[in-house]
Amino acid sequence: IFKLCGRRLMLTLADVLLDCLLVFTAKPQPPPLRAERGRRALRSLASLAGAAPAAAAAAEPPGALAREVHSLSAYFSLLARASRDAAPPPGRAPRRVDGAPRAPAEPLAPRDVFIAVKTTRKFHRARLDLLLETWISRHKESAFIFTDGEDEVLARHTGNVINTNCSAAHSRQALSCKMAVEYDHFIASGRKWFCHVDDDNYVNLRALLRLLASYPHTQDVYIGKPSLDRPIQATERISEEQVRPVHFWFATGGAGFCISRGLALKMSPWASGGHFMHTAERIRLPDDCTIGYIVEALLGVPLTRSRLFHSHLENLQQVPALELHEQVTLSYGMFENKRNAVPVKGPFSVEADPSRFRSIHCHLYPDTPWCPPAAVF
Ligand SMILES: *[C@@H]1O[C@H](CO)[C@@H](O)[C@H](O)[C@H]1NC(C)=O
Repeated sequence: IFKLCGRRLMLTLADVLLDCLLVFTAKPQPPPLRAERGRRALRSLASLAGAAPAAAAAAEPPGALAREVHSLSAYFSLLARASRDAAPPPGRAPRRVDGAPRAPAEPLAPRDVFIAVKTTRKFHRARLDLLLETWISRHKESAFIFTDGEDEVLARHTGNVINTNCSAAHSRQALSCKMAVEYDHFIASGRKWFCHVDDDNYVNLRALLRLLASYPHTQDVYIGKPSLDRPIQATERISEEQVRPVHFWFATGGAGFCISRGLALKMSPWASGGHFMHTAERIRLPDDCTIGYIVEALLGVPLTRSRLFHSHLENLQQVPALELHEQVTLSYGMFENKRNAVPVKGPFSVEADPSRFRSIHCHLYPDTPWCPPAAVF
C-alpha cells in the first residue's frame, strides 16, 4: 500500500509540476491553444521515442522559447514515463498489494458505458446474431450497433442500431467513417465511458465495469491492448509538401478499447463532425491507429495497457480459463491458419459452439434459460 501511495503521490506531484510548467511556458497574452499543447506533447513524444532531434526541432519556433521548450520536452517525456509506470501492472485488473481489487473511484452502472459494436451488413447473421444471443441480450442498454445497411430482423432485437451510411467496403476510409459516427453518438449520449469493440468480441460487462470504475471518467483515460510491442511509426502530413515522422502507441480495435468522457471531449477538435476522417487522412492509417494518434501524439495522454482485452490476432488458447470472470473482452477466429478460441470446457461441444461464446456466456450467466443446469460446471 505504501508503494502504491508513493506512486500516487509522485503522480500528483508530477501533475502539479506539469500544470505549473504549462502556465510557465504559456505566452503572456493568449492562453495556450489546444493545438499548441498538442504540438508540445508531440515533441515530448518524439524525444521519448528517440526520434531524430532535427524532426522535433523543425517544429519549434525560433529563438529563446525554442531552447526553453526543447529542454522542457525532455522533462515532459520524463513525466510521461512516470505516469506510464504508475499505471496498473499489465495483465491484471488494478489491485492493491494485498491482492484485493483496487477501490473503485466511482460507482458505475451499465447505463454509464457506451459500447459501440462495429459491424457490416454482411455479418449481421454470421456474427451479430451470436452476440445478440449472448452478451448483448443481457446488456441492451449498453450496446450500440454501428452498421452500414438496413436490417429489420436486427431492429426487432434492439433499438440501438445505427445505420452509419458508410461504405460497406473494408477500406481505411469506410472504417474511419464508422468510428467518426461512433464518436459523435457517444458525445451526444452524455455517458461516462466510450468503448469500441468489433462484431467478433464477447464483452464481459461486469469485468468491464469493474475495470472502468477504478478510474474517474473525468480524467484522461485511454485503455486497451497495444497491438504491437513498440510504438507505431507513422508519417504525419503537415501540409501539401511537408511530412514528419511520429511515434505513438495505440490500442488494437480488434480487442476493444475504452476512452473516458474527459479525454473524449479533449479529442473533439480532431474527432468530431467530419474531423476524424480528416485526421485519419493526415497519417493514412486505420481507425484504431488514428485514435492512438489523437490521444498519444496530439494530446500527449499515454495508453494504459491491459491484458484483459483480447483479439483474434493473439493465441486465445493462452487465455487462462480459470480467470474467465476477469477478462473484459474475448474473441474467436483464425490465428496462424488454425482455429482460434478461448479454451473453455463445456457446456457445449466445440462443434456446437466453435466460437465458445455460448459456453462462456453460460459460465458467466448460468441462469440463462438456454444454458444447461448449472450443476454441469
Ligand atoms: C443514414 O441515412 C438515413 C436515411 O437518409 C438517415 O435517416 C440517417 O440519419 C443516416 N445516418 C447517419 C448516421 O447519418
